[in-house]
Amino acid sequence: MAVQRRGNVKTADTSSIEKKIKRGIAQRQASSYRGYAAVLVALVGTCSLLIWLWSIWTSDITQTLVSRGEVLTEPRVFMIQCSEDYLKYKHFPGCTPTKCGRAVLDTVVSTDESRTLKRLAERGLALGGSDGGASILDLHSGALSMGKKFVNIYRYYSNEIRDIFTEDDFELYRAVRGRIQRVIAETFGLDFNKLYLTKPTFFSRMNSTSAKTTHDEYWHPHIDKVTYGSFDYTSLLYLTDYGVDFGGGRFIFMDPNSNRTVEPRS
Ligand SMILES: *[C@@H]1O[C@H](CO)[C@@H](O)[C@H](O)[C@H]1NC(C)=O
Ligand SMILES: *[C@@H]1O[C@H](CO)[C@@H](O)[C@H](O)[C@H]1NC(C)=O
Repeated sequence: MAVQRRGNVKTADTSSIEKKIKRGIAQRQASSYRGYAAVLVALVGTCSLLIWLWSIWTSDITQTLVSRGEVLTEPRVFMIQCSEDYLKYKHFPGCTPTKCGRAVLDTVVSTDESRTLKRLAERGLALGGSDGGASILDLHSGALSMGKKFVNIYRYYSNEIRDIFTEDDFELYRAVRGRIQRVIAETFGLDFNKLYLTKPTFFSRMNSTSAKTTHDEYWHPHIDKVTYGSFDYTSLLYLTDYGVDFGGGRFIFMDPNSNRTVEPRS
């Protein structure tokens, strides 16, 4: 821009005095434009440096919130702003989130309990299984993945069910479910008795077989109130270990500008 101005001045058909005056003005303008340009370049430079650093920070460096080596005996919590999604629903005091966040804890179940639950899930899932990479077993509704659809395990295997799951299995399941509920209530300042288990609640098993139906597409981000309108809190209990039982597949808390990963352990 500054260069163009000077060119205009040079080609102007005017008297010598006018030329001198104009040259003076033009030079002042040129230098102020140059100064302006330098500031702009410096600003653009700073911005692109920031953008560059930012892109490195956000894409190449994914923050590990909890690594597998860590054993958290107290919840590791980080709070976030509550989504406006909650405003579209009726407010239930003691249950509807007033503070929102994520919490990770390792000591809700013992190693033995975790193994027992895993064997329970394996026995159930062995009766069916999805053609794609994700199978589920929902002990509440009885839903079990089978090929490209679901069957009701309690109807489909009504005679065998007593041999597959024992009363002890169900008791452990109920106890663990209650403990998770308590941790959620304590972490988010809620009334334990005002929290209710909603559906779906299920065991899931995933591997790298490609998806055959949309039910196998486990990788979509989960958002309470969007994925399932009934969810106010979502809990996941891992029964396998990252780096031992599976690779890849870390758990990610996704935000617009950052991803925080958890390396799950059973
Ligand atoms: C976070 O992870 C998701 C899934 O891998 C990816 O699509 C997204 O670009 C990541 N976001 C950032 C900010 O790195
Ligand atoms: C995934 O699990 C299913 C059911 O157990 C099995 O048939 C399939 O071979 C597995 N795929 C991989 C890639 O391990």
